[in-house]
Amino acid sequence: MAEREQTLYAPQETIAQPEAFNGSFRGKDIISVEQFTRKDELEHLFRLADRMRRSVERHETREDMRGQTAALLFYQPSTRTFTSFFAAAQRLGALTIPIPDMKPTSVAKGESLEDTIRAIYQTTAADIIVLRHPEDDSSQRAAACSKIPIINAGSGKAAHPTQAILDIYTIRQELGRVDNLNITMIGDLANGRTVKSLAKLLVLAGKDIRFNFLSPASLRMPAEHLEILRSKGFEVSEGELGELQNVVRETDVLYVTRVQKEWFTNEEAYRQAVRGYEVNRETLGSAKPKMIVMHPLPRVEEIDKKIDNDPRIAYFRQMRNGLYTRMALLAAIQGGQRW
Ligand code: NCD
Repeated sequence: MAEREQTLYAPQETIAQPEAFNGSFRGKDIISVEQFTRKDELEHLFRLADRMRRSVERHETREDMRGQTAALLFYQPSTRTFTSFFAAAQRLGALTIPIPDMKPTSVAKGESLEDTIRAIYQTTAADIIVLRHPEDDSSQRAAACSKIPIINAGSGKAAHPTQAILDIYTIRQELGRVDNLNITMIGDLANGRTVKSLAKLLVLAGKDIRFNFLSPASLRMPAEHLEILRSKGFEVSEGELGELQNVVRETDVLYVTRVQKEWFTNEEAYRQAVRGYEVNRETLGSAKPKMIVMHPLPRVEEIDKKIDNDPRIAYFRQMRNGLYTRMALLAAIQGGQRW
């Protein structure tokens, strides 16, 4: 990590180019899923996550991060990502500095992201920082002025790489494969960051995947993301929410997302977008007996809670996979877990 020595005082607002993993996570930032270059990098993480699952089930205390410190900086609300990273670091034996809300920090006095990153590093001697922030390039900016790895726990509308990892781990766990799948992503595909990272990572993780994107016309997946999928030879179709009843018949993974109210400036536009958007018994009535419904959560109105008991509902199990995969990631970046 010596080459990162100077970066601590890099000029304000420098953007770090994410480094490809090239077979090793050790000491690296996790900024975007584009850093994955080989399928076996993902498989390695999944095997490690399986081991973490067994450790947790046996109530074992692990020492992968013993003597290390993990700081969690969340500039946006979170339940799952925050608690799973917190529990993951603790379960690996790290000292954990949790900042779930930046409001009472010097951010309120106007401190820049860069200075806050430097402050956390200096005051806590942290070995790794987990960052959630509303700006798309926040993780790159943080990485540019940080000597220690930055993990992107959600950046603006752009990326949520650790969610994509846990989502693919869930598909593998639930369906036993990541190939030969018909995936329908539905909801706010314009503002949502999970669907963008997931679609990109699936291109690396699987083959013979057909993508269906259903959303209100104003919340379509940006064209460049569709272009990436098509250019890699994947079949892609787009449609309106109303087409779900038909599209769900062929779907293996229905990935439901929340309309991201926080990015709307106008209440009426939000109401308009969510109108008639509900996954319910009727939807599942047309679905295959062996398919799964996922959601990064939180859900608001887009899922009728009456379907929660259906065995195809995977979103509760999906949350637990966040713990196992984040333990695996932390151990691979920072702990003694090598290839
Ligand atoms: C998502 C996020 O923050 O992007 N939540 C999560 O991390 N599981 C999805 C959302 O907020 O809708």
